[in-house]
Amino acid sequence: MEKPFNLILVIFGATGDLTSRKLLPALFSLKNQGLMPDKCAFIGVGRSEKSVEDFRNDMEKAVREFLEDKDAGISNIKQFTACIDYFKMDYQSPGDYEKLRQEIEKISAARGTGGNIIFYMATPPSLYEVIATNIAKAGMGVQNDGFRRFIIEKPFGYDLESARNLNKTLHMLVQEDQIYRIDHYLGKETVQNLLVTRFANGIFEPLWNRNYVHRIEITSAESMGVEDRGGYYDGSGALRDMVQNHLLQMVGLTAMEPPSSLEADAIRNEVLKVFQSLQPIKEEDVEKQVIRGQYTPSKIRGECVTGYRYEKDVDVHSRTETYVAIRFYIDNWRWGGVPFYIRTGKRLPTRVTEVVIHFKQTPHHLFRRVMGKLSGNQLIIRIQPDEGMLLKFDMKEPGAGFNVKNVNMDFHYKDLADARMPSAYERLLYDVMLGDSTLFSRDDEVETAWKFIEPIQKAWKNNPAIKVYGYPAGTWGPEPSNSLIEGEGLMWRYPCKNMADEELYCEL
Ligand SMILES: NC(=O)c1ccc[n+]([C@@H]2O[C@H](COP(=O)([O-])OP(=O)(O)OC[C@H]3O[C@@H](n4cnc5c(N)ncnc54)[C@H](OP(=O)(O)O)[C@@H]3O)[C@@H](O)[C@H]2O)c1
Repeated sequence: MEKPFNLILVIFGATGDLTSRKLLPALFSLKNQGLMPDKCAFIGVGRSEKSVEDFRNDMEKAVREFLEDKDAGISNIKQFTACIDYFKMDYQSPGDYEKLRQEIEKISAARGTGGNIIFYMATPPSLYEVIATNIAKAGMGVQNDGFRRFIIEKPFGYDLESARNLNKTLHMLVQEDQIYRIDHYLGKETVQNLLVTRFANGIFEPLWNRNYVHRIEITSAESMGVEDRGGYYDGSGALRDMVQNHLLQMVGLTAMEPPSSLEADAIRNEVLKVFQSLQPIKEEDVEKQVIRGQYTPSKIRGECVTGYRYEKDVDVHSRTETYVAIRFYIDNWRWGGVPFYIRTGKRLPTRVTEVVIHFKQTPHHLFRRVMGKLSGNQLIIRIQPDEGMLLKFDMKEPGAGFNVKNVNMDFHYKDLADARMPSAYERLLYDVMLGDSTLFSRDDEVETAWKFIEPIQKAWKNNPAIKVYGYPAGTWGPEPSNSLIEGEGLMWRYPCKNMADEELYCEL
């Protein structure tokens, strides 16, 4: 594996949850694997008064608590935190950026890190533009003595217009190839494995089209509620928080044409073409093609669970969706007429993300008399948890006659004795250090995804008669979402039953 060049990583909003839970553990893990530059420094930037010592202690605590791979050892943690500094500033003050520039120069000279700098925006999104503008004004965006890269956290805008404005501002300051828009789903091994499954195996790709695929279903379910992020979530909702980015990216990778190479733009061009081919949902059709819901109080495993409107920092009259399901089509030669179904929600029975390819039935069903209805072949690509793949197919039951049984052929990543699943942030931070933008969203992809979402946002805003259905916490969402699935007797795949009814571990 390649080692990145020496650099400084500056994290804005470093006292926040993301830095503690994800970024520092990921950086430490990279260091443990020898994948960090020989010379590097981290500067945490925040508004709070804090000594460098206190910040290092906080980061050490965070790594100890949130490092996923505890077996890798933590004995060198002090050596790691010794590379961390803290800088207090007011994000609105141009003078403070000048001081930050001087601090960076001082640290770079002391640690011999050279001129490469990565700026990570881990603040509330409302600050991205002001921070980027002031970095540029202080002359820190210019790539004279090394690269300057900008990592932007999601959400990238809250609608099409704001995303366009943010892109416009960033482009006035830096080049597109200096911008890395994080969609942490793309950092997941199993999401990347979608490409390998499709394009490294001769057996799947010939079937991966409208001739053989009946429908495609993508689910991203969370069992948790909004926890202590009610304030943020109530202004966002599932459509903005999950669909515009994570779910559409998975649609892109599932539906794209084979890229000409593994170059970042070759892959992103194909994903963009999928987004450009998404059949627009007309505002007047939103009610028919999109179902939204909100979890209501319920009992899970005997324990009372609060409803969304009673969560901390949530408006008691809130109409923010905690569940959304959409039926749509992709207007191109490969997918014309094949329905795509995507759904995501909070307080569903389990935490699971998966892509399900439902294949068409055989043209003539020889075994109808003994079997009745066929269950159909499905390829299930499990993104999380229990990462792996499952092929469901029919087989003869041993014995007399022709009794047919639906069986599974499965592969679990956990069965690979020597496989270690790096965290998404580990992979993405490593890629930014190397300058590989394959797994980051490009400006045109982001805007085209927002364009698809826009009529849904408009319909919900302009037509209050469109229902926000309640669903008891611990169930698979509102009942009307079943009516989205076209075809008699067809329904969503339910990886496990309603938690509100009974507890079931969700296996592939
Ligand atoms: N947490 C996650 O797992 C996660 C996942 C995906 C994306 N994200 C995105 O990553 C970014 C950071 O997430 P986070 O969870 O770390 O956020 P956070 O904890 O809410 O905020 C990060 C830091 O920003 C500073 N801050 C908060 N409000 C501010 C304000 N009004 N003005 C100036 N500074 C302010 C605070 O630090 P000081 O007061 O010390 O300055 C805070 O510690 C967000 O854009 C979020 O949407 C987070």
